[in-house]
Amino acid sequence: MHQTLLFLHLAAGSVWVGGHLVLAVSLLPEAMAKRDPDLVRGFERIYERIGLPAMAVQVVTGLWLASLLRPEIASWTDWSDPVALTICLKLACLAATIGLAVHARLSIIPRLDAARLPMLGAHIVAVTALALAFVWLGLAFRYGGV
Ligand code: HEM
Repeated sequence: MHQTLLFLHLAAGSVWVGGHLVLAVSLLPEAMAKRDPDLVRGFERIYERIGLPAMAVQVVTGLWLASLLRPEIASWTDWSDPVALTICLKLACLAATIGLAVHARLSIIPRLDAARLPMLGAHIVAVTALALAFVWLGLAFRYGGV
């Protein structure tokens, strides 16, 4: 079971991190240079079909993996335990990612134009940095946590 969960976690994680790196590093600079929000809109329309399910897989497999490491959920708040601290840092990254995504979805994307592209760009860069933090924190479990 653990191997299957970790496989799903790594596969879906690759979709989330890879997709956001392509968006942030390759597509966003071009959209900004051309002041063309449609480049980002087009990518988001295609990517979200696989990106959102991938994040759902991350949450389910991540919480399941965390419960295998620390079955007592109440123990996750014991931050003197580096594994529990790492689990909570992952959950903090998740809350920040959801917050940014909801804010972009409700207040930027509906009225997206060239003037609002930098604000969306800042959200994309922040979500991408959080995606890399998820990977770093995930790796930290191999070394006993942060
Ligand atoms: C997009 C979001 C996420 C990404 C990219 C990600 C990525 C990773 C990576 C690369 C690993 C290392 C796997 C290995 O050692 O080979 C990992 C492990 C882990 N992740 Fe995530 N993760 C994400 C979300 C989450 C969430 C929301 C949780 C919930 C608490 C979580 C909990 C864990 C746990 C507990 C492990 C350790 C598994 C083990 O070694 O038994 N992850 N993650």
